[in-house]
Amino acid sequence: MTDSNSGQIDHVLIEDRLFPPPAEFTKTAVFSTQEQYETMCNQAAEDSDNFWRGEANEHLHWFEPFKEVCKWNPPHAEWFVGGKTNASYNCLDRNIEAGLGDRIAILWEGEPGDQRTLTYSDLRTEVCKCAEGMKQLGIGAGDVVSIYMPMTPELAIAMLACARIGAVHSVIFAGFSAESIADRNNDAGAKLVITADGLYRRGRVLPLKATVDEALEKSPTVNHCLVLRRVGNEDVSMVEPRDVWWHDVVDPQPGELPAKPMDSEASLFILYTSGSTGKPKGIRHTTAGYNLWAKRTFQWVFDHREDDIYWCTADCGWITGHSYIVYGPLSAGATCLMYEGAPNFPAEDRFWELVEKHKVTILYTAPTAIRAFIKWGDEHVEKHDLSSLRLLGTVGEGINPEAWMWYHKKIGAERCPIVDTWWQTETGGIMMSPLPGITATKPGSCTRPLPGVIPAIVDETGKEVDDQHGGMLCIAKPWPGMLRGIWGDDDRFVQQYWSTVPGKYLTGDNARKDSDGYYWIMGRIDDVINVSGHRLSTIEVESALVSHEAVCEAAVVGRPDALKGQAIAAFVSVRDREPNEELRKELLLHVRKQIGALAQPDDLRFTATLPKTRSGKIMRRLLRDIASGKEIAGDTSTLEDLSVLAKLQEDE
Ligand code: WT7
Repeated sequence: MTDSNSGQIDHVLIEDRLFPPPAEFTKTAVFSTQEQYETMCNQAAEDSDNFWRGEANEHLHWFEPFKEVCKWNPPHAEWFVGGKTNASYNCLDRNIEAGLGDRIAILWEGEPGDQRTLTYSDLRTEVCKCAEGMKQLGIGAGDVVSIYMPMTPELAIAMLACARIGAVHSVIFAGFSAESIADRNNDAGAKLVITADGLYRRGRVLPLKATVDEALEKSPTVNHCLVLRRVGNEDVSMVEPRDVWWHDVVDPQPGELPAKPMDSEASLFILYTSGSTGKPKGIRHTTAGYNLWAKRTFQWVFDHREDDIYWCTADCGWITGHSYIVYGPLSAGATCLMYEGAPNFPAEDRFWELVEKHKVTILYTAPTAIRAFIKWGDEHVEKHDLSSLRLLGTVGEGINPEAWMWYHKKIGAERCPIVDTWWQTETGGIMMSPLPGITATKPGSCTRPLPGVIPAIVDETGKEVDDQHGGMLCIAKPWPGMLRGIWGDDDRFVQQYWSTVPGKYLTGDNARKDSDGYYWIMGRIDDVINVSGHRLSTIEVESALVSHEAVCEAAVVGRPDALKGQAIAAFVSVRDREPNEELRKELLLHVRKQIGALAQPDDLRFTATLPKTRSGKIMRRLLRDIASGKEIAGDTSTLEDLSVLAKLQEDE
């Protein structure tokens, strides 16, 4: 059991409130009876091939039919083997052919308040233009394209354009540093980087292209950089012939490129995420299985209807944006609101203004955002008419019951079901979640698995634990949306996910199942921390710190934080430098430069030595206690010798 957020576990364990689905909602829901859910789960478990054959044939377009549903060569799975499809076709052409060409696909609002709407036909034209432009830059099937962009429609367009020609996108969240971009470009062998002249954030302009320029100095595989003019930044330096403008290369294209039939198992994208070691890993997802999983889970969990205005507040730089802004909702023909900026710009009511203005019916956001809204005050919510909402969702971390209740009362007016969706970058889409028409919810529980998901909670020996007992959460059977590997590192894939419990996918989370069969996620087993719903490896931050010349050794742990879920606490021993305020600032900045602002420690303490066990392992539990203020009273931010404390602990 993880000790990093054990405080939350106690809280969660006593939660016994039950919120049945509103009868009104159930009447028209996609899942309206428990039997329907059970039947589907049984089919998917007992006759998996038939179940998924039917799903894939009905819900994806096939240029060539697949011959085999699932080839399972543990731990390598292939789905819909031999078939040819295209994710961009499924998101665009298939809907247009079904008569939805004039339906709004993306309803976009920029941070400064500018708006654009793209119908499915408009979106296809833009995607084709971008694909045609990329082809002129020498990009074809199998080439990797890094995308480092603001949340403009062009970000989704660029992703779908890659899918259209079979290029593999690697979206890099626009908050990452030049160093992180270069690492990702090099690991993936990216040939093209798509970026913008800048990005608006709380009224300020961040110079994206300048960051990319720095990254490109260390990215030898990249031949071209395609630049969108978003903010009209005059200072952009364009290096010829490497750098080209979107308006020169993309806009003049005809916009008519047919989608390329792709093998079911062709890589659709790579997305880098943190594991328990220092180096982020490129999670590889493929075409057909991922696309089907994103689409069906979207339809099931969000109970999608054609008149819905759906808003997922994530950034496309994370898996949530991939699956639930782009591939899931667009495959389902949904109308999606996409917002570029911060939730508190120009004021703390921006989200609620957007919900009211665009009559949003489904809202999908993160617990960390909800906690910020609570802090900002109810008056920002009360100013707006939120009666269009019918369904609420959360993702990224467990939601604490207080935040759940606030969301339920203040945003949902006690009438909207809440879907707490548990999943991971690796799972491709939602794995466990309430189905809003049928599942009675309990604040803090992601309730039950979706059809086709077979969870297993096991102990250290790999044996399934009895219900009620916590253990490591695994998934016992392959599912269409599962990751197919780590880019360029199959050993790590096997070792990380399939070796601890042979034959089962190890999620890295701890979980417990209650007497109603509901699952409760209880934090990580590894050194991964969750800061504002963003996943970070403590070792990654440690590596960044020790890459500074003054740092001898560093240990990083998570500590509970009311707003972020977890905050980052760093313990650092230094050499040849005075451990003072100036150095502290320098080190914080260094981490920002190495990884990005999201990895900057919230606390940084200097220590003469780090507490170690006799075998030399850093005593993380002790550091976590110190970081959360449990062990030492008063100001611990000054120089101290933690090895003394460690000795005391060992003697106990
Ligand atoms: C980790 C995955 C899923 C997309 C966003 C994050 C934690 C995520 C929940 C939830 C409890 C959750 C887990 C998971 N997590 N959703 N509803 N309840 N924990 O994707 O960056 O791959 O992180 O986030 O620890 O393993 P990610």
